[in-house]
Parts: sequence; C-alpha cells; structure tokens
Amino acid sequence: MDIKSQIERLSQELSAHNHAYYVLNKPTISDFEFDQLLKTLEKLEQEHPEYALENSPTKRVGGDITKNFETVVHQYPMLSLANTYSKEELIDWVNRIKKTIEHEITYVCELKYDGVAIGIQYKNGQLFRAVTRGDGTKGENVTQNVRTIRTIPLQLTGDFPLDFEIRGEIFLPVKSFEKINALRAEKGEELYANPRNTAAGTLKLQNSKIVAERGLDCFLYGIYGTEGKDNHFDTVASAANWGFKIPKPDDHFIKKVKTIDEMMAFINYWDINRQQLPFEIDGIVFKVNDFDTQKMLGFTAKNPRWAISYKFKAEQAETRLEAVTYQVGRTGAITPVANLTPVLLAGTTVKRASLHNADQIEKLDLHERDSVYIEKGGEIIPKIVGINLALRPENSQPITFITHCPDCGTALIRKEEEAQHYCPNETGCPTQILGKIEHFISRKAMNIDGIGPETIALFYQKGLIQKPADLYDLSFDKIIELDRIADKSANNIIQNIHKSKAIPFAKVLFSLGIRYVGETVSKKLANHFKSIDRLMSASFEDLIAVDEIGDRIAESLISYFHSEENKLQIEKLKIAGLSFEITDNVETTDKLDGKSFVISGVFTLFSREELKVLIETNGGKNTSSISKKTDFLVAGDKMGPSKLEKAKNLGIQIITEQEFAEMIA
Ligand code: IVH
Repeated sequence: MDIKSQIERLSQELSAHNHAYYVLNKPTISDFEFDQLLKTLEKLEQEHPEYALENSPTKRVGGDITKNFETVVHQYPMLSLANTYSKEELIDWVNRIKKTIEHEITYVCELKYDGVAIGIQYKNGQLFRAVTRGDGTKGENVTQNVRTIRTIPLQLTGDFPLDFEIRGEIFLPVKSFEKINALRAEKGEELYANPRNTAAGTLKLQNSKIVAERGLDCFLYGIYGTEGKDNHFDTVASAANWGFKIPKPDDHFIKKVKTIDEMMAFINYWDINRQQLPFEIDGIVFKVNDFDTQKMLGFTAKNPRWAISYKFKAEQAETRLEAVTYQVGRTGAITPVANLTPVLLAGTTVKRASLHNADQIEKLDLHERDSVYIEKGGEIIPKIVGINLALRPENSQPITFITHCPDCGTALIRKEEEAQHYCPNETGCPTQILGKIEHFISRKAMNIDGIGPETIALFYQKGLIQKPADLYDLSFDKIIELDRIADKSANNIIQNIHKSKAIPFAKVLFSLGIRYVGETVSKKLANHFKSIDRLMSASFEDLIAVDEIGDRIAESLISYFHSEENKLQIEKLKIAGLSFEITDNVETTDKLDGKSFVISGVFTLFSREELKVLIETNGGKNTSSISKKTDFLVAGDKMGPSKLEKAKNLGIQIITEQEFAEMIA
C-alpha cells in the first residue's frame, strides 16, 4: 500500500478505536496497541507531512499556542434558557403552552449539564470550528482546545449532514477536577473552586497541550441546520450514528414524556441520584419535542418559549458560629475552622465548616456569633456561603486571625503571595513534631501499621521519639516498659518498623514531609535524580528543569536540605537501612497515575501481592471494594458474580491480567 493510503487507513482505524473507547465505552483494542498504532501514524506523518490529514487522530494531543482567540459571529444566536427553581412555575409553563397549542405535546426531559456551552460546526464530516457562547451573538474560536476532547469526533461517520452545527456542554468530570486539585494542593497552589469554573478556564487556556491533559468531556444536546428528522429527540439520537456522545435513554439521561407527573418524576429521580453521576448537573431541561410546535411557540427576546430549565437548589442551612479554632498541620500551616451550632444539612449533622485561610474570613466579613448560611458542595466539609446580617448580634466584633501558634505560642509568619499562615517552629512545635511522625508512618508513606496517633503521642511524651528517625532506635525492651503496650503489640510494632525498610525511595522521599513535595512530586523527583545524594546536591536550576517542578517546590527542597538538622535525620535514616536510591529494576512510573484498582479472583501471570505492588509502583491505588470511584477491576478466575455485577452497573472498566500487563508495559 502506498504511504498516502496507509496514512488514511491508519487515521480511520484510530478514529474508530477512539470512538469505541471514549464514546461507546467499549474499547476494541488495548491502550498499548492503540499507542503503537498512533506512534506508527505519527512517524508516517512526520516523514510525509504532505499526506497528513487535517483532522488526524494524532492532532488530539494539542501543542499549538493560540495567542488570542478570534471572535466569531454565531450563524444561529446562542440563546439561554428561562430558569425556574419552583415546580409551580414549571406547571405554569406547561399550562401556557397548552393555551397556545391544541394538540397533545411530547416533551423531552434532559439533564442540565453544569459546564460551558459550545457550538461546533462540521463541514463535509470534518470538525471545522468550535465557538464559545460569548455574549450569545458572537463567541470565541476555541477550536484548537476543543479538538483535544476525545468524545468530540474530528471526522464523522455514517450518514451525516454536509454542513451543520451541533451544540452541547463541555464539562470537567468530578474525578478529573479532583485530580487537578490534588496536584495543585501538593504543589501548594490555590485550589480551583468547582468543576464548572475549571472547565471554563481550561477551555480558554492558551496552550492546548495543557487542555489535553485536563480531561474535559462533552455532551451534545442540539443540532442546527439539518433537515432530517422532524423532532428534537430523533435528531439528537441520529447524531450518535455520526460519532457523537449523546445522552442515552437507558442511562435515564434523556426521556420523552407527556404529563407533568412524568416531568416531576424525572426531576425527583435526579434530585436524589445526581450525587452518583461522574459529572455535575445543576438542573433539568424540558423541551417541546416537535420542531413545528417549537416554531409555533417561538422566542422571547432572550429565550425560546419551547424550553425551560428547572434548577436544583443547593441544599443550605442556617446556623450560628460558635467559635473559630485553628489547626496546626504537620508542615506548620494554620487552618481556621468554623465551629457551628450543630444543624442538619442534606442528611447529616454539621458541626464544622472549613474557612481555608485569613483571606476567606476577611472576604466573608465574618463576625463573632454571626448567623451563617452553609452549603454542601462537592467537598465533604461544608462551607460558609453567606451571613444573615439581620441576625448579627449587637457589638459583635470581626473575627481576627490569630498572630501566634495555638500550640507552641511562636509568632506566625505569612510569606508574600501565600494564602496560608505558618508556625515557623518546625522542630519545637509539638503538633508539628507529632504530625510529621504520623505522616511518616502513614499508609501512603512508610506504611507502618499498628501504631496510631495515641501510641505516637505516648512514645513522644515518654521521650522515646522526637523525630521519625528515632522510630528505628525503638526496641521491644524499650516499649514494653510502657504501661499501655502489651507483648503482642510491642512485637508487632517492632516488626512493622523493620518491614518498612523495604519501602522504595519515592515513598521514603514522600515520608520526609517536605513542604509541597507530595506523592506525585516525590515520584517525579525520585525517578529523575535516582538518589537522595543527587537530589540534595541539585541546584535550583536543576530542580526547575524537571517536568512539573516549579519555583515554589524547588525553593522548599533547597531550604529543607539546607538545614543541618534535616541532613542529620536523613543520615540517621540511611544508617537505619531505608532506601535512598532507586536500586532495583522496579522503577516507579506514572502510567496508572491516580487510577484506582480493585483486584479480584485468581491469577496466573502474577500473584495478588505482585499485582498490588505493580499497581502501586506505577502510580495507581489499591482499594478493596468497588465503588463509583474505582477505575479498573482486574478480574481473575473464580471471581464472585456480585462483584462483577456491581462493577458492570457502575460502568467500571473490567480488565484481565494480560490487559493490565499491557497497561504497564
Ligand atoms: S438547550 C436555546 N439543553 O444551559 C437554548 N442547554 O441557559 C438551548 N445547558 O449555557 C440550550 N444542559 O449550555 C440545553 N440539556 C441541555 C443543557 C443546556 C446545559 C446549558 C447551556 C446554556 C444554559 C442555558
């Protein structure tokens, strides 16, 4: 076959695999095989750029820097929907329609995806241009960024119209959002507020390479400029045949109804079940199905009369602020916490709310004993969203941030451009000392089982430990003398401390608890420098040359290794026998970064233990039970049917051990 045909065929094949994987959720080949094909195509295209297709699957990864987004006038104005928060108003809407239209009406119920609206034009089956809503009349050309979204086809299949526009909502799945924020937290960067804003910000990034890494997704909800079907439901359904990801009735994402009761049932179903969705919705959209009827109803100045959105109320409660207390973290970071009069919110009793930092308190203008509104977002701890000024007690004073550490009394510091206050007394502040040891032994760090915070506190009070390295000086005889430790647990503790010496370098580095050096950063550093000695002698420039390591992390590392005390501790840990270099060939990778695995059944290629180690060393997480947070179920022989069933119901990818092996190959 000539090169041109080879390129065309590979492009087509890869597009089909992409569609099967991202849109249908039914992969046709392994990731490994896919990457191989993609590499082949990339190579061919590099050698023969003249044959590369404009919408080649290799062009998903992004790379071009778009300086400014061009403004584009919408061919069909991008209107918004009339909103309501009340079921009565929804009934009014239906009754108004009934007055104008005499025949029976079918409505389509859809989810209201909480993201950013996008209009995408296709010409001759090729993605031509993607434009944001902007002011409704004109938007910004964000084509380069939209091309990186894998559920949006670059080339269409089947019997597609030659020139049309499809509209939908680009959103960030909750998991992707959490992953981005976890990484930001690790690096000490300010966290993003919610998936919606992050999606909007991501779509406007100048570097499409970063967009590609963020994991945006898209659902499509409307098609313009075609003359096929005579109703909305069927038109949207036909787009599935052209390669789009559209909401499916089987998932209850879209439904045709005729009565108000059915509409209410759809609302009630999702009001409860939306928590389980992998993405956020903020309401339900109702649309008149038949296009002719839509035309008869027409538009107001801003909205179509044939559609309305019912928005869910975020659950709120009002309660009294009792006091603001301050927590000291292991790195000395001070976190203010609002202690509240207990109140019921979304099924749980809430006693505390996070306040993040001093700026947050100032922004809220929080006063003593204020009556506050609290709301539950995606986070587990609720937040204060407002204050009922009418109930503010007379002479109530504004909350002022503490100036000294609540634990050791040292004056707090706050560096320029940082949101957090810190207690600088790293070596003398008891909370920091205990926090550092607790971090050191935690599961993701040295994983020393059998010692809880009380035992640590006991060892510290009795003068047995001051620093993590002191753990390795403990002996059975020393700890058995303490009243509260029995023979069996003393043995256990000593054994577990001993076992921890086998923990790989990346985790040892993480265990040190260096500020801004979290799990991911530790892996990056370990893989790059291979040993603590090389890392310690690295200059600021050497450090920031490493992918993902910014100024802040580099400064933190330099200052950590500058301290004589820290150097001494590392020396002691080395003598105790901990791994401070990558010695064996089990190099840690990021291949399974952030992915959560459940393994179940009997395997032939690996033992269960080996599988667990491989998951961890490649950046994945082992969990014992299947939940909506699980990414993969590695299924062996003789696996229980209930587990399989649960995984299928939750749409978790089920893989064999061979497929797992390919993932980490
Ligand atoms: S239909 C003429 N359907 O909600 C209006 N919009 O104010 C056409 N949205 O930002 C919009 N889910 O992007 C429609 N299933 C859905 C939707 C949806 C979310 C967004 C839309 C716009 C806003 C409407």
